[in-house]
Amino acid sequence: MVKTFYIETFGCQMNAHDSEKVIGTLVGQGYSQVDTPEQAELVFYNTCSIRDKAEQKVFHRLQQFKREQGKGKTFAVLGCVAQQEGEKIFEKAPHVSMVCGSASYNKLPELLVQLETGNKRVTGLSLDTDETFDTPMTRRDNPHRAYITIIEGCDKACAYCVVPFTRGPERSRTSASVIAEARELAGAGYSEIQLLGQNVNSYRDPSPAGWDFAMLLDNVGRVPGIRRVRFTTSHPRDFTKEIVDAIENNPSLCNHVHLPVQSGSTRVLEAMQRSYTREEYMRRIEWMKASSRTIAITTDIIVGFPGETEADLQDTLDLLTAVEYDGIFSFKYSRRPNTPALKLDDQISEDEKSRRLAVVQEHQRQIQIRRNAGYVGRTEECLVEGFNKATGQWIGRTSQHKTLNFLGLAADEHELLGKYVNVLVTRAGPNSLAGEYVRGA
Ligand code: 5AD
Ligand code: SF4
Repeated sequence: MVKTFYIETFGCQMNAHDSEKVIGTLVGQGYSQVDTPEQAELVFYNTCSIRDKAEQKVFHRLQQFKREQGKGKTFAVLGCVAQQEGEKIFEKAPHVSMVCGSASYNKLPELLVQLETGNKRVTGLSLDTDETFDTPMTRRDNPHRAYITIIEGCDKACAYCVVPFTRGPERSRTSASVIAEARELAGAGYSEIQLLGQNVNSYRDPSPAGWDFAMLLDNVGRVPGIRRVRFTTSHPRDFTKEIVDAIENNPSLCNHVHLPVQSGSTRVLEAMQRSYTREEYMRRIEWMKASSRTIAITTDIIVGFPGETEADLQDTLDLLTAVEYDGIFSFKYSRRPNTPALKLDDQISEDEKSRRLAVVQEHQRQIQIRRNAGYVGRTEECLVEGFNKATGQWIGRTSQHKTLNFLGLAADEHELLGKYVNVLVTRAGPNSLAGEYVRGA
């Protein structure tokens, strides 16, 4: 009898891709995926604990299902909440049978056997690993863009962050295995690859070839059939000029860098243990601004870190203006278990954090209106990602990772999805561009 499973994923792209690999592993073990938890015998939650809200979502979901318990379903909690809470999950949610963090996914087949043989509480919680999670099978969600994890874990010690505690130490894959996967993906028809890692640019080839991230990036971009390579997420400390040079010289590397700054104040950066100053960060921005390519730059911002003053907030606003980011993800500081910042005094009230977040977001909105207006009149190559029946517009994605909705192309939807077309930008808003298809280009 085929066993059925359902999986729901929370959190970052690393988690999304981990789920693709978990699905591959389960299918390899003879399980079959279903679309709803109701239909499934095994229910997996791949969880995120980056902020309190993300963590609460998972417990909320588990509570919802508690009521349905007893229908012979087995529940498994994977990912960052699993690693962080460990066996405490069995107390909070007694209907859960498996708790497994990402550093133990290699043990999944073994844990599944334990479940099948009637074990009620199985765990994979060791962080003590030098292995990466490589699967013979990966179920990919997107038909055009494929993820490749090149480095797992995190060795940094940002004062606010749970990731070093939930994903274990940094482990890089060999350059040969990454290139082989990229070739395989190109062969299977993927034209865009996104290299993933908590600190993707801290990559260090463990094989004698000894490539650094810039070398790997450049070589992935040279795999025949690969037209676009993206990477996320980069740590400013390890962000080298060679990465910008690779983008400058290799047309397959996309015009986009996500470089989380977190704060514009050197004082706050130091309290966050980010290991760079505002000036050092700005030097990296200047390398990108000096490129002949129009490199879109995006970032992450945390407001309301303990001790952040009005002047620090102003420094962040000034930095947003100076960089002129194409987009930001901004968050209210959330206290996380085990992290160094837990001990800091001078916590900022929720109301004040909300106010600061609104100030940052409105400031950035104005920047994006200006920045995107600069694209009007330019012709951009787009990957066709969809068709919006309501507006009659095609949905394209530029090299800068901007959404560019366009008209003027009458064709069969299915023939065009995944193809590259040129589009003249005619209008711009804060969050997207609009334009017209350029014939014959
Ligand atoms: N509180 C708020 N935001 C956080 N991030 C990471 N940890 C926290 C936290 N404790 C944000 C950072 C990071 C992004 C993925 O999430 O901005 O870059
Ligand atoms: Fe969430 Fe961080 Fe874990 Fe990704 S690595 S799932 S963002 S806690």
